[in-house]
This record gives sequence, C-alpha cells and structure tokens, in this order.
Amino acid sequence: MRGAKNSALKVMASSLLFKNPITVNNVPLIEDVFRMTELLKELGVKVRERGGGRSLTLDSRAVSGYVLKKDIAEQLRASIVLAGPLLARQKRVISPHPGGCVIGKRPIDIFLGGWRLLGAKVRETKNGYDVSAKHLRGCDYTFREVSVTATEALMMTAILAEGKTILRNVACEPEIPALAEFLNRSGAKIKGAGTSTIEIIGTKGRLLSAKESFKVLPDRIEAGSFLILGAAIGKNLKIKNCNPEHLSVLIATLGDVGVKVLVGPQSLTVSRPKNLFRTNIKTDKYPGFPTDIQAPFTVLMTQARGQSMIFETVFEGRLNYIEDLNRMGANIVMCDPHRILVHGPTPLHGREIESPDIRAGLAFIIAALIAKGPSEVKNIYQINRGYEKIDERLEALGANIKRLE
Ligand code: EPZ
Repeated sequence: MRGAKNSALKVMASSLLFKNPITVNNVPLIEDVFRMTELLKELGVKVRERGGGRSLTLDSRAVSGYVLKKDIAEQLRASIVLAGPLLARQKRVISPHPGGCVIGKRPIDIFLGGWRLLGAKVRETKNGYDVSAKHLRGCDYTFREVSVTATEALMMTAILAEGKTILRNVACEPEIPALAEFLNRSGAKIKGAGTSTIEIIGTKGRLLSAKESFKVLPDRIEAGSFLILGAAIGKNLKIKNCNPEHLSVLIATLGDVGVKVLVGPQSLTVSRPKNLFRTNIKTDKYPGFPTDIQAPFTVLMTQARGQSMIFETVFEGRLNYIEDLNRMGANIVMCDPHRILVHGPTPLHGREIESPDIRAGLAFIIAALIAKGPSEVKNIYQINRGYEKIDERLEALGANIKRLE
C-alpha cells in the first residue's frame, strides 16, 4: 500500500512547528499532497523533493505568511489542520472555510472553540476566519463531538502554548499517535495520543527540533478498499505493506459476510468467497467501522444475498452516491439521510457515473469492475486526491481500466 493521505497531510502541516527542516518519507503522489505542498510554499516553506516526490524535506525557517491561499485551501479539509501549527507559530491565521469532500455540513466550531480557549480571538469574516493571539496559554477543552482534524489541529496549536492543555473526547485514529510520537521525538510533550484524552505540556513558543525523519503510515483506507475489491471481483489478492491491526473491525465484518482474510504481520490476503452473506454495518470513529470504507462496502453488499442495512453515523451527506449505483442496477432504498437498505444480489451494468468524493469514487470503480459492460467514471480528480495512479495499479491486477483525462 502507498502512504496514507490522512497521515502525510498532517505531518506536512506540522513542519511549521520546527526550527529545522523535517523529512517525510513514503509520501503518496496524490493531488491533496500536491495542494498541501502549494499551501506550505505560499507561506514560505521551502520544499525539496527526492525520489520523484516520495520523500519531502520541508524547511519552515523562512515562513513569514499567515494567510492560507483561498483557492487552494477551499479544495481540501486538511487546510484547517494547517491552521493549527500556523496559529501557534505566527500567532495569526487567515483562512477560508476549508473545502474537501462534500459529505455533509463539516463545520469547524470545535476548532474555533479550542483556539478561543487557548487565548485566540476569532473573527468570522465574509471570506472565512481571522484568528489571532497575542499569547497562547494551555486550557482544558472537551470536544462536543469527536473530530479527527480538530484533534490534530488543536494538539499542534497547544504544543507552542504556555502551560498544560488537556483535550478531552478526542479522536483515536492511528494517524494521531503516529504524529504525536514524531513530535515527541522532536521535543514536544504529548501524552495520551491514541486515547480519548490528550495532555500537552507547551514549550512556551520554543520551536521543535527534528532529529529523525517521519515515515508516513500505510494507508488503511486504501488497504481496506482493496480487500473489498478482491472479494467483489472474486480475485485472490495479497495486500502488502499494511497494518492489519488498523483494520480489525473491517476484517471481522468481512468474516461475517463470508469473506476470508488471511492476516500476516504486514499483509492481508483475501480470497474469493463461496457465498456472500448480507449484514448490517454502522460506521463509527476509530476503531469502529471506518466511514471512509462505507461506500465500497455498500457496493459489496449489492452482491450479497438478502437485505443489508448501512448506517452512516459520522457524516450526514455520505450516502448520495446510491442514486448512481441504482442506475447501474443496484436495489438500494434510502430510509433517511443516514441509513440505506441494500437488497441483493443484483447484477450491475456499466453506466456513466460521476465521482462525488474520494471514497465513493473508488467505490464506483469497484462497481464498474464487477458490472457487465463498460462504465465511464467522471470527475476523477476526486479519486486522484486520495489514490495514487489507481488505473495503473488496477491494470497490473488484470483490470480493464483506462484513464481518459
Ligand atoms: C477526517 O475528516 C478525515 N479527513 C476524513 O477523511 C474522515 O472521513 C473523517 O476524519 C472521519 O474519520 C482528514 O483527515 C483530512 P471529523 P474530519 O471532524 O476530521 C463533526 C477522506 O476521504 N464536526 O472527525 O473532517 C463533523 O461534521 C476524508 O480522506 C463538527 O460538528 O472529520 C462530523 O459529523 C473524508 N464540528 C464529525 O464531527 C467540527 O468542528 C466527525 O468529523 C468538526 C467536526
């Protein structure tokens, strides 16, 4: 597997907390990483690429800006994570409302509440937000809802604050402790990352000093989607360079529907299921069933016997792709914005479909591969945001897939 988008983007953002260059390895060559590189360069970060962009050295010594370029920041949610270390370093951030996948309202009130408690003034303007602080001091902040990017952003702001910050009810996704461990090896004092309470002792504004490089975690969402792909097209696939521990709930769920997964130390092998059974899933924060694997799993359930309920609990707009799947021949009924019923099995037929977001885009590719006849997936920029050269990698597995743009 390639490096994880949602690990790479956050560690790239963390370069602003350092007084010397940091090196990030195993970087995926995807559009969101390119956009993050552009945002960092706009702020004055010098970026050196090696290995065709697989390794990045980010030097923030000359950073002078505090404005996140609107047209770029509006393309990815991770831009709001960048606001965390930027506020810590420059004491001011001007940012538009962050963009990214259109999968729900995606407010940023939890970020703003945390920055206010850390001593910042937040002004909401017609173009976005102007956040500034004379002095950042530690605070005790309970998230009203678990948020991945707010956990990362506020953890990074608190590092350069004065005193102790406690963040409660935070996210536990594996990318968070990986980032915290890297920051700790560079002089930060973060305890509890990977649990629901994180404690940070601030460095009073002293920047961190990188002593070693960071290796981006293998992409668990990509690995999980490939497992589903193998099961859906009935092909034995060995997925190498992944961390099976990060996918335990998906592996257990696949077992329930008749898909056997052989777990190695850093690999997963999936084989053709004899029968595919129905099940119900409910997406949840880590370690629950990942919302980012919900759409591919729905495609798999169109091929299972019986009725499956898919309950999307994290985002309120992440089931809109079902109309296109139904046009391909699926029988899916929307009960409410969070729940659908999938009746299977139904053969799928090739159609022209439009990728609404990164993960549903990959789900459409899986659907197209099991469908009879050709399909054309449009708006593949969305897929390119999160998956590196997906066409070439699937072609190597024997898929008949061609990039048209
Ligand atoms: C991160 O999004 C990921 N993005 C998403 O991946 C992933 O789907 C999601 O976490 C859940 O795992 C990145 O890491 C860049 P949240 P994030 O804040 O942080 C509500 C992908 O395809 N909320 O954990 O934006 C929010 O509306 C993407 O790679 C507030 O109400 O998700 C949602 O209902 C898509 N106020 C819930 O919390 C806030 O201030 C959880 O969202 C923040 C969030």
